[in-house]
Amino acid sequence: MGRHIVRRLRAAGAEVSVLVRAGSDRSVLPADVRRVTGELGARGAVPAQLRDSLGNADAVIHCAARLFASDWREYLRDNSLGAEHLATMIAAHGRNVQRVIMLSSLAAAGPCGDVPGIAEASPPAPVSAYGWSKLMAEWAMEKHVRDDRLTILRPPIVYGPEDKALAPLFGLAARGLVLQAGRGETPYSFLYVEDLVDAALLCLYAPRAAGTYHLEDGRPSSLREFGEIIARAVGRHPRRVVLPHALIRLAAQGSAFAARRLPGRFFPLTPDKALEGRQKGWLADGAKFRREFSFTATTALEQGVAATLRWRENTKKN
Ligand SMILES: NC(=O)c1ccc[n+]([C@@H]2O[C@H](COP(=O)([O-])OP(=O)(O)OC[C@H]3O[C@@H](n4cnc5c(N)ncnc54)[C@H](OP(=O)(O)O)[C@@H]3O)[C@@H](O)[C@H]2O)c1
Repeated sequence: MGRHIVRRLRAAGAEVSVLVRAGSDRSVLPADVRRVTGELGARGAVPAQLRDSLGNADAVIHCAARLFASDWREYLRDNSLGAEHLATMIAAHGRNVQRVIMLSSLAAAGPCGDVPGIAEASPPAPVSAYGWSKLMAEWAMEKHVRDDRLTILRPPIVYGPEDKALAPLFGLAARGLVLQAGRGETPYSFLYVEDLVDAALLCLYAPRAAGTYHLEDGRPSSLREFGEIIARAVGRHPRRVVLPHALIRLAAQGSAFAARRLPGRFFPLTPDKALEGRQKGWLADGAKFRREFSFTATTALEQGVAATLRWRENTKKN
């Protein structure tokens, strides 16, 4: 998401500095943004370049996080300690920072299977290590950043071009295979990446945007429906395959085993994600954000899926 936000900020004429890790793929960023090398959650002195960037910044958008890990300690280090690290740096060096936007997650609020979804006022009840690490990241931000400057956004599943996490699902559905976890239909909220960027930029420029907000596109759906939309968009008849949760759990354990042996390789099915998949649903109620920011997510699932498929097609050709 960070790269999409950066591109839109540059298109709007903002000067942007991006924190990148030593091994990050820098080619996805516009050439004219300042790259500062560093790692959140790492010990050691704050790089001088990062101190300077924070000293000159009007706003900070915190997108960095680990989404897939086979060991909960990795979530804790990159997400919770990472946020604490950034928040203390902002407190120490961000003398002009007026707004801090943190991309948290619906996983920090917890599961919900009933329409209209979980609202911000519900006490957070994460179920996964990832969800807990994001909630602890929120707490770290709240501890160090002034209340009236902090905006915490909790998106649901975000999809769109360049996203790696849902790529396997796109790949299978484009062959007509639609996977469903367990017999019951699990409801999910979705948001197209450019709508997420719209929401983040609204918070950036709004005079009053402090608080925690849930986001969603207004249409509760499911991974089954999402897969069927992909299959139909490529002219395939969707064939549903129901995978029992016990089998998914076993596959996730195998995947975690492989991840430990092949560090650096991407394994999107982890025991933590399998646990999230066994919940009654992941529905968010984005009414508060819609009301306070007159926000409407403009991309329907069919449109977002079509745009993502176009991007996949173009990258295959190039
Ligand atoms: N994708 C979703 O469906 C979804 C839903 C809800 C919330 N979110 C949240 O939205 C944000 C963006 O997610 P995304 O989908 O764009 O994930 P992503 O593509 O995996 O991007 C995460 C970025 O964080 C960087 N990062 C990870 N650990 C870091 C660390 N310790 N120090 C510095 N950088 C670090 C990664 O750097 P490298 O490039 O070097 O790996 C990567 O560029 C995250 O906070 C995530 O929790 C995502």
